[in-house]
Amino acid sequence: MFHGLLTILLYTTLVPIMDGLSQEASFTCAEDPNNSNVAVITFSLLKHDDTVHWVYAYNASTTSQASAYKMTACVANDSAVNNSATDPIQIIVKVDIIASAQTSPANSCGIHVETDPSTSVKTIRLRFRSQGFVDVVTSTDKFYEIACTSNNLQGQTVSTPGSKASSLDVVIVNEPQRRTQLKVLEKTTRKPLTQVTLGQEIFLSFEYDPGSVTEGPDNYGTEFYIGFLGNDPPGNEASTATLKLLVYPRYSRVTTFITVETKSGTETKSTNSTAAVEFTIPANMMGCSNEGEAEIVEKGVHVSATREVGVVAINSETKSLGYYTALPVDVLGTSYYAISYSTSAGSSEMMVIATEDNTRVNITIPASKFYSVKVLNSTYSPGNTVSITLNKRYVFHLAQKSESLTGYYIVADKPVSVISGNRVIAIGTNLSRADHLVDQLLPTTSQGNHFILFKAPPGVTDSRVTYYKVIAMENNTTLTKGDSNRTVLGTLAQAGNEKELQITTENYELFADKPIMVAQFLSSPISELKYDPAMTLIPSVKQWGNSYTFPAFDTGTGIVFVVKTSDLPKLVVNGNLVSLASTAVTGPDNTYKYAVVPNIGTGTYSFKINGSDTAVFLAVVYGYKDTETGGVYLPFGYRYTKLTDCTNTTAINGDLLDNDCDSLIDEEMVNGLDDDGDGLVDEDTVASARDNIDFMKIRPRNIQASGTANFTALTKAITGSNGCRQGTSGEPFYPAAECAKSAVSTADKVVIDCGLFESVRFEESNMIYFQAALDYCFSSTDPLCATICQPGAIGKRAANTDNVPTVNTSVLVTTTSGISGNSNADASNSSPNVNPAQCIQNTYILVILILVLIALVLSFTSAVYFFCKFKRERKKKEQYRS
Ligand SMILES: *[C@@H]1O[C@H](CO)[C@@H](O)[C@H](O)[C@H]1NC(C)=O
Ligand SMILES: *[C@@H]1O[C@H](CO)[C@@H](O)[C@H](O)[C@H]1NC(C)=O
Ligand SMILES: *[C@@H]1O[C@H](CO)[C@@H](O)[C@H](O)[C@H]1NC(C)=O
Ligand SMILES: *[C@@H]1O[C@H](CO)[C@@H](O)[C@H](O)[C@H]1NC(C)=O
Ligand SMILES: *[C@@H]1O[C@H](CO)[C@@H](O)[C@H](O)[C@H]1NC(C)=O
Ligand SMILES: *[C@@H]1O[C@H](CO)[C@@H](O)[C@H](O)[C@H]1NC(C)=O
Ligand SMILES: *[C@@H]1O[C@H](CO)[C@@H](O)[C@H](O)[C@H]1NC(C)=O
Ligand SMILES: *[C@@H]1O[C@H](CO)[C@@H](O)[C@H](O)[C@H]1NC(C)=O
Ligand SMILES: *[C@@H]1O[C@H](CO)[C@@H](O)[C@H](O)[C@H]1NC(C)=O
Ligand SMILES: *[C@@H]1O[C@H](CO)[C@@H](O)[C@H](O)[C@H]1NC(C)=O
Repeated sequence: MFHGLLTILLYTTLVPIMDGLSQEASFTCAEDPNNSNVAVITFSLLKHDDTVHWVYAYNASTTSQASAYKMTACVANDSAVNNSATDPIQIIVKVDIIASAQTSPANSCGIHVETDPSTSVKTIRLRFRSQGFVDVVTSTDKFYEIACTSNNLQGQTVSTPGSKASSLDVVIVNEPQRRTQLKVLEKTTRKPLTQVTLGQEIFLSFEYDPGSVTEGPDNYGTEFYIGFLGNDPPGNEASTATLKLLVYPRYSRVTTFITVETKSGTETKSTNSTAAVEFTIPANMMGCSNEGEAEIVEKGVHVSATREVGVVAINSETKSLGYYTALPVDVLGTSYYAISYSTSAGSSEMMVIATEDNTRVNITIPASKFYSVKVLNSTYSPGNTVSITLNKRYVFHLAQKSESLTGYYIVADKPVSVISGNRVIAIGTNLSRADHLVDQLLPTTSQGNHFILFKAPPGVTDSRVTYYKVIAMENNTTLTKGDSNRTVLGTLAQAGNEKELQITTENYELFADKPIMVAQFLSSPISELKYDPAMTLIPSVKQWGNSYTFPAFDTGTGIVFVVKTSDLPKLVVNGNLVSLASTAVTGPDNTYKYAVVPNIGTGTYSFKINGSDTAVFLAVVYGYKDTETGGVYLPFGYRYTKLTDCTNTTAINGDLLDNDCDSLIDEEMVNGLDDDGDGLVDEDTVASARDNIDFMKIRPRNIQASGTANFTALTKAITGSNGCRQGTSGEPFYPAAECAKSAVSTADKVVIDCGLFESVRFEESNMIYFQAALDYCFSSTDPLCATICQPGAIGKRAANTDNVPTVNTSVLVTTTSGISGNSNADASNSSPNVNPAQCIQNTYILVILILVLIALVLSFTSAVYFFCKFKRERKKKEQYRS
């Protein structure tokens, strides 16, 4: 829901940093009525018993108050200098939650926005100081810090009452995964209402924005730090490498802005489609350390986007090509083991890219290595640790002689990107065919212990071997093959140690008793001219996704799938069931099948298991550009949830977390059933793949109003299951028009308004609750959503074969002062002889909006609800008669 609806309401801290004279401040967070992505934060110094007359903003990014930098362009003063309580000194700051940027006054108030990587909740911090008239040194000044965490507001304002700086509440706004919102709007201004007066004309409005949510930890993201290893073929020292980024927006029909920043400058492009946006990166961004040496240089590439994107980094030289799917910042970590291949020819390489300034990085050379490393004129021997400090976009690039970098241990005090591989190398028996190897590494905290080792394509006409390297993340790790004997394949004594495994024909499940990293290496071709050597990390079974999108940009692109036997016939490529020949994967329960699509052609593809959102599978993409080169990369949709130290958390549908710590991610449907048979219901729920992709339209139906949050006794149908109005003109809640797409809809936000009605209220309650079921349509040609009210049309579209889970959100709307008192007064209203005038004057309607997909069964009778408005009219008639 965030779709731009900032619901603010959680909590805010106003912390006085220095004690001084009594001052009272208030703080408000509100959605900007003109732009629901913008939070308007108002700080008001209400009362001050000192001669305070200035409020300054300070840069809230600095952790130490002492070194806080004063934002001289963000100052408010008491123009009257009368120190009056009725003369608040105010600073109003607008913050674009999506861009995490202050929009007004332009960047002058020093906001600091933090995103909690696990919940995507954003915290906006502002720091103000009220300064006394006398002087700073007289300690009549105070600092205040405000944390407005949030989003998902329905447009209302949430304010703290005026209170002492130390006792103000904290506002937190959660960023939910669902993105349709139901609002009660004022007739002309479309202002969302939290309270209405009896008889006021209002309408219901549904808003949805398919692409504004930052999803959980997967390989889509809004921020990336990318690097390029050296890729010079031997004997061709003058590099002619072409460095490119292909950026694929996750959502179409909404605008995604993409900015690429290097030391040479920034470039921004925007698109409304999911087609690749290509950026050419200057060739001098490629690492170019000499063998045995490391350089510390500004060669990192920062990619940021306003909506989630997937990024493929391509490093292409004459006869040498390597590419990888980049990992976004939200899945990076602080400790890594490098990996590369090693033969006597072809240097190995790694690059650490800093995502923040002042990142301290230690790189430990395993004692088992032979060669030393020269860094800034100092030489480090095997067993030594290189300690460096990197600023944002600076990199540590190391090239090493003919030994692998496998086991080099990288630890940093802030998240870093790490890539490793080989400059150009041949693998296997045909040493005449070499190629560049590269992949971005997963941190030690995201590695799994259950993998499938499978043969890379082509597999049929070429008898080459597929190599694997398994790296232990912890000491004393035992590897076991999933055959009937549970054959032990080896034990890795120490973290960082490697074991090479080879697959010629049999694909099998690999188990480890501790987390391991697994990389696949394509060997040099023997008979086939396709697929030169390449390397990619293979995701563990736990990291498999339930749907993938993948760009095929090379002329020859093949796919390997590993799918549960029962799911293989349900594999859907671009919406169509495919029938693939398969072979068994050796495993304890013979659970998986291996299937290859040898050449899919260029284009954009999506994969899914038909009819299931919880079925997960593996897909790896192999491409070759001409007969000389090859590359491997992962499609978008893998889940890089941190796997170690699991703690139970509350499920948000599709949060990509293991909420119940059972090693499965989002394995429950939202259906009130125990799908995984562990005795728990909906404890780790999946979002419909569709929810997170690209639905086109929604169709609300079964809209109900109720006086109770559970929609029991006091309930009235506004529309029926076909989406059409229910009841008779003139009845309470009968809308003036059917629900229809609103004129305020844009490419980024579709709005459906349901016609005006006069607000009424149930006699026994001063709150009205609304709920609706939603149909989602995923095709612009789907007729159901084209016309919302369609007699006879019931239920979800055939086009939408997915089981779209319940879209369910509730927003508690707080009343302003005074309203709460009326709930007591309401007792008198429930008298049958209620005075209509009092009812009108005193009645406020507190609204809770609830969207549910599955409509509740309506059961109401006219006997159980009475409307004040009715009574007033009846009474008038009675008076007229008398
Ligand atoms: C919203 O837009 C209207 C019309 O452009 C303008 O009058 C109003 O001041 C704006 N409101 C805010 C809070 O910016
Ligand atoms: C605030 O300080 C941080 C850290 O020193 C700096 O990166 C940022 O640019 C500053 N913000 C402003 C608006 O000056
Ligand atoms: C490394 O040594 C060379 C030659 O002695 C010298 O010119 C250079 O400044 C040194 N670099 C650093 C970073 O100390
Ligand atoms: C790097 O090593 C130094 C020296 O052992 C240590 O003090 C520091 O904490 C280490 N840094 C990190 C990020 O581990
Ligand atoms: C792993 O083994 C190394 C070498 O024997 C030892 O120094 C280290 O403490 C061990 N790590 C753990 C976590 O036991
Ligand atoms: C390694 O692990 C095995 C199995 O868990 C255990 O029996 C053995 O004692 C461990 N060895 C060391 C050196 O810790
Ligand atoms: C399992 O072990 C038995 C006895 O050593 C052997 O005969 C058999 O071939 C093994 N099976 C596999 C699949 O390795
Ligand atoms: C998580 O919850 C499950 C079910 O309640 C429980 O069995 C398990 O021990 C919990 N795990 C952790 C790590 O708290
Ligand atoms: C529904 O809510 C009302 C008022 O909140 C309560 O009195 C009633 O018991 C609830 N009914 C059910 C079935 O929960
Ligand atoms: C994307 O959509 C926006 C809003 O409708 C429109 O203004 C813009 O021109 C479109 N951009 C492209 C590249 O089509």
